[in-house]
Amino acid sequence: MGKRMTQVWKIALILISLLTALNSRGEMVSDVESIYMGSCIACHGSDGTGAMPGVHDLTDPNGALKKSDQELFAVIRQGIDSSSGGIVMPPNGGNKNLTDAEISGLVRYLRTTFGSNELGPKPNIGD
Ligand code: HEC
Repeated sequence: MGKRMTQVWKIALILISLLTALNSRGEMVSDVESIYMGSCIACHGSDGTGAMPGVHDLTDPNGALKKSDQELFAVIRQGIDSSSGGIVMPPNGGNKNLTDAEISGLVRYLRTTFGSNELGPKPNIGD
């Protein structure tokens, strides 16, 4: 193979791997993120700290994200009848079409976006 041909192949390979990487990343992030933006953000806020009275801070290291994946899944599926009065968390965040896979994705999204430490609770310094 000539030198020129080798270069063409190299460039083609780089382009293909770049496109593949962009595509798989883009899908993973945007799917769940857009669900959060569409169904959850109104009450939980873009930073997870809560945008409505009675909605707790999801970024609190001693808050909801201490619960297990299964518990969080169940909460999102079933919603919460808020005892703090006023606002209620609707089942599926009000999004009837939410699939199991999407809820699992949301649990992961909450952990990676608002969790202080994926491996466990962080010590509460100065709190
Ligand atoms: C209409 C407002 C509203 C919407 C929309 C909403 N939530 Fe909530 N959410 C609440 C309220 C109220 C609570 C209960 C108070 C609290 O713990 O913050 C809650 C609690 C939670 C909790 C903590 C549960 C626990 O056991 O402590 C999680 C996790 C959560 N919501 C995730 C979501 C996700 C994911 C979505 C979108 C699919 C969503 N919420 C949509 C109002 C809402």
